[in-house]
Amino acid sequence: MVLPEDPKYALKKVDEIREMVDNDLGFQQAPLMCYSRTKTLLFISNDKKVVGCLIAEHIQWGYRVIEEKLPVIRSEEEKVRFERQKAWCCSTLPEPAICGISRIWVFSMMRRKKIASRMIECLRSNFIYGSYLSKEEIAFSDPTPDGKLFATQYCGTGQFLVYNFINGQNST
Ligand code: COA
Repeated sequence: MVLPEDPKYALKKVDEIREMVDNDLGFQQAPLMCYSRTKTLLFISNDKKVVGCLIAEHIQWGYRVIEEKLPVIRSEEEKVRFERQKAWCCSTLPEPAICGISRIWVFSMMRRKKIASRMIECLRSNFIYGSYLSKEEIAFSDPTPDGKLFATQYCGTGQFLVYNFINGQNST
């Protein structure tokens, strides 16, 4: 975990990784709300490579994704294809939240090995000293299709919290 008060070399590395993650996500990411309060988790492989990154920030509000009714879908593959194609909507009703996941990224060759899940578990126990965040206290910034599939699975519901979405109210 890298914190804003850590040595400059660590912050520089985090900046480089964030830039690479933003390029990989392929669109302009929302700027961090309060840089001095962000926490960055890096997942380092046995051969000392950064294969996962999670950037979290303090937020006050999240907005619940509104689940669309799925058409009759036969296979898991079809469900994933459908999820990838459709836009998502969320409620305009703010709900209290504590931790915003601004970026979550895993190296493409290492996906589906529970690295993102492990980074969130680690975040939940380390974001606020002495407390373990519930899934209800976490929101995802404008999720990508991959992010939505992951969050749905991790949170156990398609109605997880989001913030920073385009054309919506901001959470600050
Ligand atoms: N398609 C379908 N289900 C997915 C999925 C995908 N692309 N990614 C995750 N899931 C679901 C699965 O149910 C998975 O469990 P399973 O593999 O046993 O079926 C579960 O979520 C846990 O996934 P996990 O292995 O912990 O996630 P990951 O390490 O592969 O990382 C992302 C998930 C989203 C971080 C990764 O796909 C990624 O970096 N994508 C590019 C960046 C991005 O879009 N980030 C999201 C920003 S909001």
